[in-house]
Amino acid sequence: MKIAVIGLGYVGLPLARLFATKYPVIGFDINKKRVDELMSGHDHTLEVSDEDLKAVLSKAPLRGFGGLYCTDIIEDIKDCNVYVVTVPTPADKHNRPDLTPLKKASETIGKVISKGDIVIYESTVYPGATEEDCIPVVEAVSGLKFNRDFFAGYSPERINPGDKEHTIEKIKKVTSGSTPEIGRQIDELYRSVIIAGTHLAPAIKVAEAAKIIENCQRDINIAFVNELKKMFDRMDIDTHAVLEAAGTKWNFLRFRPGLVGGHCIGVDPYYLAQKAQDSGYFPEIILAGRRLNDSMGEYVGSQVVKKMILKGIPVKNSDILVMGITFKENCPDVRNTKVVEVIRSLKEYDTKIAIYDPWANPKEVQQEYGLDIVTQLPEEKFDAVVVAVVHKEFEGIDYALLLKENSVLYTLK
Ligand SMILES: NC(=O)c1ccc[n+]([C@@H]2O[C@H](COP(=O)([O-])OP(=O)(O)OC[C@H]3O[C@@H](n4cnc5c(N)ncnc54)[C@H](O)[C@@H]3O)[C@@H](O)[C@H]2O)c1
Repeated sequence: MKIAVIGLGYVGLPLARLFATKYPVIGFDINKKRVDELMSGHDHTLEVSDEDLKAVLSKAPLRGFGGLYCTDIIEDIKDCNVYVVTVPTPADKHNRPDLTPLKKASETIGKVISKGDIVIYESTVYPGATEEDCIPVVEAVSGLKFNRDFFAGYSPERINPGDKEHTIEKIKKVTSGSTPEIGRQIDELYRSVIIAGTHLAPAIKVAEAAKIIENCQRDINIAFVNELKKMFDRMDIDTHAVLEAAGTKWNFLRFRPGLVGGHCIGVDPYYLAQKAQDSGYFPEIILAGRRLNDSMGEYVGSQVVKKMILKGIPVKNSDILVMGITFKENCPDVRNTKVVEVIRSLKEYDTKIAIYDPWANPKEVQQEYGLDIVTQLPEEKFDAVVVAVVHKEFEGIDYALLLKENSVLYTLK
């Protein structure tokens, strides 16, 4: 067994590292900078510690009992017999699924795959994408016949970036294969490294659907409490106090209002919605949830301004500090962060915004959003402080030191 992991990001690297504790693994990524960074023993996403990475790294492709070698050269993965795909599955600006990275990765595999090999997709997709969109690319490029010359599987990733408790090996993994026998082989492969065990789904489509509904369910649940927040704000009722009281019932689901960003929960429902519409069904709850959650950035901005006006604080030219710009706490990922919507909304009132985030990379934030951030807590005082993301560093802060005498402190969580 020699495994290639295609796409060494938040999902691919922890998986490649884990497999490399038992099998020879080649990590392949088109981003040379990422490959060089990993080969130097560092992961800027902080999902794998330098110590754990260095413990499995090898200077050359291995044939023995483990080790990870990273590369951007296609020929290096030619000898592999299991190809695991962990490339991004984004949505375009019209919220339509963009399968370009998946198709490109399938082309790469088509160029190197041999008879008897297995391709396992891990990227989050709508049901049907593996067999209808990806495998035909592998077949066309390789000239091999699916389920005769080569086989496939789908095993969705459930990791939660920044979560050091639920790490990859401790999360039960759903597996599936293009035939019952391949399903069993793939399941065995994952079971050999995942301590929490596996669940072998009866078909690839079932595994694909299972993953996407996990994220849709979360999105809809958060949309519900966001709707409650908008309603209760108007009625002058404290939503958090309501949720705390309701949460004392054993079967009340404990979700909290907030921004839904990132490239998973805020994107995946569009994948399922697109597939549903292609099948002639217009999803109502899923898209309503998306609309509601996408409106929260603007809502938070307007609430801050409203509170400032009610306290008699001049909004134009006011100094506002936004704390946290990553899409979630204790993680450097700024992709699709909705904090930028809060900032956009506040800027519409000609406010002066400072952004403090000790986790985000200032260069990346500037490139992605054209915003400057600081990574040290500012020393001046502000007319309003918006705590958008509760990084652990924010817990001990004395907020009084950041606030002018007449000011607003708005916390999202
Ligand atoms: N990050 C998460 O928390 C999470 C959790 C579960 C599932 N997922 C899903 O896993 C998939 C990967 O997400 P991610 O967060 O790891 O993405 P990422 O952007 O962190 O990493 C993707 C990597 O793939 C590389 N890449 C892109 N196209 C490539 C190609 N054609 N060939 C080789 N490499 C290529 C990129 O350079 C990048 O390093 C997505 O479908 C995502 O929805 C992510």
